[in-house]
Amino acid sequence: MKYLSILTTRLAFCAALATTTVAYAEPNNVTFPEDLEALELYTTVTRGNVFENVYTSREALDAIQAGEEIPDRTQIVLEIFRDDELWRLFVMEKGEGWGEEYDEASRTDDWQFQWYWPDGTINMEENTARCRSCHMSREDRNYMFTYNDARRAE
Ligand code: HEC
Repeated sequence: MKYLSILTTRLAFCAALATTTVAYAEPNNVTFPEDLEALELYTTVTRGNVFENVYTSREALDAIQAGEEIPDRTQIVLEIFRDDELWRLFVMEKGEGWGEEYDEASRTDDWQFQWYWPDGTINMEENTARCRSCHMSREDRNYMFTYNDARRAE
């Protein structure tokens, strides 16, 4: 009987842990960028053994350069390589009203963020509040760190 109760306790603990994990990971409205070729590569970043390509649409670059609002359903994609191998894709995407899914303190206007593995699955360990909290510091530049590169892009 004692064993059974230990087992039950363990099962309850695991169930609680599983629930926590599900609540922590976060599929959202962002979609996996299937066709990077359709986007414009507007800048690259190299840091040690990590290399990054940054892409967005022609329409978004035109809007940024004209000082206009970036259109809905724009994706900005950070394609990240480590030791020359595709490692992960960080995506920010904008949609009308998407910001309302988060409380005001952690909102990046209508932009949502997601971390994908190369096969298109989401990193279920990530809480995208972390992405938003760092990118919030760029509020006056469309929440982008490479905003000036986008402004200068051809
Ligand atoms: C600690 C700060 C920080 C965090 C956390 C962070 N980023 Fe970024 N992000 C940056 C910086 C800095 C750049 C510019 C590229 C570089 O230097 O590597 C960037 C660039 C990007 C870009 C290209 C557009 C832009 O802003 O220039 C995307 C897309 C992006 N990040 C998505 C994400 C996603 C998705 C997450 C969470 C999984 C995330 N970021 C978490 C700092 C951060």
